[in-house]
Amino acid sequence: MYKELVEKKAKLAVIGLGYVGLPVALAFAKKISVIGFDINEERLNLMRKGIDPSNELSSEDFENSDITFTSSIEDLTLADFYIVAVPTPVDEKNTPDLSLVIKASQMVGKVIKQGNYVVFESTVYPGCTEEECLPIIEKISGLKNKVDFKSGYSPERINPGDKIHTLSNITKIVSGCDDEALEEISKVYELVVQAGVYKASSIKVAEAAKIVENTQRDLNIAFMNELSIVFDKLNINTFEVLEAAGTKWNFLKFQPGLVGGHCTGVDPYYLAYKAGVRVIKLN
Ligand SMILES: NC(=O)c1ccc[n+]([C@@H]2O[C@H](COP(=O)([O-])OP(=O)(O)OC[C@H]3O[C@@H](n4cnc5c(N)ncnc54)[C@H](O)[C@@H]3O)[C@@H](O)[C@H]2O)c1
Repeated sequence: MYKELVEKKAKLAVIGLGYVGLPVALAFAKKISVIGFDINEERLNLMRKGIDPSNELSSEDFENSDITFTSSIEDLTLADFYIVAVPTPVDEKNTPDLSLVIKASQMVGKVIKQGNYVVFESTVYPGCTEEECLPIIEKISGLKNKVDFKSGYSPERINPGDKIHTLSNITKIVSGCDDEALEEISKVYELVVQAGVYKASSIKVAEAAKIVENTQRDLNIAFMNELSIVFDKLNINTFEVLEAAGTKWNFLKFQPGLVGGHCTGVDPYYLAYKAGVRVIKLN
């Protein structure tokens, strides 16, 4: 698949062109032929004019790109390597809302062909790709994962507003349904990730790693915020406390504040859901 993509005998499609999908699609479009698929025509029209509706990328990022922006499922059938980057929010009870990733899986099921690849980038709980998404693709396509098509999961680490940590310069975790898939998917991502890829041992490990990264950050910042409320009441400067505590070799240097990125506060609910923890909404 890698060879066909590089020789432009095959195309890569990105489904969902938001904060995550658009930078991924444009990075690949500098190297290979890309189909950028989204259901939102208004956003697609802006992208066709070289405007990022999420205000992260500049018009130069759209230049010299081999990309077709489309909402047509016919166009999607022309691809051989599918990347899914649709939103995975929570509902009003903080339960994972998989409706969009399920819709995207149904669409992939309609267009995927023998020998194709599908890689999920949407943040999900460990097990979701194999338990929820791939069975939908298999059922609709009549093809079998690992036998007729290959699959993988590669979580995204880009951070809205962050111009330092970009797709190209942060190590990307990749995983595959088998060794062959892992090798091919790694080679494909290495086209755009200069920092290189980290090959996770399984799809579940890659899914869990992403959730843990964001949950660790969310919990620690929440703890610092709680501390700052307590220390404020005690007339103690929290930053002075953290500076003093930070002189210990194993003290983790977090600070009070807001968590960056709209998914950091959402992702822990995905982990809690899979862990069977009952979430009680306080507000
Ligand atoms: N934003 C971040 O910083 C960030 C970082 C890492 C991971 N993630 C994860 O990446 C995933 C995508 O998040 P995002 O921030 O890019 O979302 P987003 O809201 O910025 O954009 C999602 C895009 O997907 C499109 N879309 C929705 N349903 C679709 C469908 N069925 N088919 C095709 N397109 C569809 C929307 O029109 C929109 O353009 C989520 O799982 C999120 O948790 C986000």
